[in-house]
Amino acid sequence: KLPIAVLISGGGSNLQALIDKIEEGILDVDIKMVLSNRAGAYGLERAKTHSIPTCVLSHKDFKSREDFDGEMVRILKETGAQAVVMAGFMRIITPVFLNAFSGRIINIHPALLPSFAGAGGQTEAGEYGVQISGCTVHFVDEKMDNGAIIIQAAVPAMPGEDVDVLAKRILRVEHRILPQATQWLAEGRLRTEGRFVKLGLADVAKAEQD
Ligand code: GAR
Repeated sequence: KLPIAVLISGGGSNLQALIDKIEEGILDVDIKMVLSNRAGAYGLERAKTHSIPTCVLSHKDFKSREDFDGEMVRILKETGAQAVVMAGFMRIITPVFLNAFSGRIINIHPALLPSFAGAGGQTEAGEYGVQISGCTVHFVDEKMDNGAIIIQAAVPAMPGEDVDVLAKRILRVEHRILPQATQWLAEGRLRTEGRFVKLGLADVAKAEQD
């Protein structure tokens, strides 16, 4: 099983989706730690309920993004995590973190990138009046919400509907694509060629070793 860390900032429903799939036996990862930059994040309680180690590291306690990232790297490496899933982690990371988990960091974003990057993607899409919204899992690179796309799913948006209702509908789909992308990562199936991610065959030899 691929040892991973999950980064959160809030409710952690995507974290819960990962935990549920692991417990169903259809997601071959071991969550070594859930790290939150916010002490009150409900996702921390979800982790504790399932006996997953947690860590709160406030970005406010650090002078620079690089210092914060350096400490995250130190903590996560100690757990043995080899890959990182950002599940509602609302911080931009620097090369300090990127280089430590090179090519092994994925993020879920609640919009069809490259549209509506940044925080509040669902609200902006709803207010813009798009009729198709959705969510994206992508590799993380040095620019925000920019890395190569692994999987996207479309979600219909109704003109003028409450953005909270749309956000919830998107979230339900996030809970399907994030575990899927994480499983592909665990199986060693994600081959990146520049901007493109191609789904290869499962790396059976490696799976047997693990
Ligand atoms: C999710 O909608 C996720 O896509 C979004 O935060 C929410 C976290 O929900 N992430 C971003 O906007 C990142 N830019 P959760 O804590 O219930 O998983």
